[in-house]
Amino acid sequence: MIRNINHIGIATHNLETAMNLYGKIFGITEFHRERVEAQKVDIASFRIGNVLIELTAPTSPDSPIGKFLDKRGEGIHHIAFSTDNVDVELARLENEGIALINHSAQAGAHDMLIGFLHPKSTGGVLMELCQNR
Ligand code: CO
Repeated sequence: MIRNINHIGIATHNLETAMNLYGKIFGITEFHRERVEAQKVDIASFRIGNVLIELTAPTSPDSPIGKFLDKRGEGIHHIAFSTDNVDVELARLENEGIALINHSAQAGAHDMLIGFLHPKSTGGVLMELCQNR
């Protein structure tokens, strides 16, 4: 079952610039910093209520987020929803005819398991499912 929104991923070329900007808007001084090698990203995240805002910069231009920035520029990259079991939900959605980017759970930030649905099947919105391990 898909429950709440876990985080919103925002693509940025430069994490320091984005941290300054979001820090100013939300009055945030402390960010959780992390490099996720599996996704080739550096992230800086902070919590607004129950939702994480995840500022995401590529560690390499050939990463998915690097390609997104080339094509679409900075802005909202994906919305991530919490689920109890990413693999079960991916299988259910594939069965419903939804195209998937990941067919099984991958390593994500915050030690979560994640999987992306393909935006061509979700009205142009990149959706991620995530699960605490
Ligand atoms: Co995410």
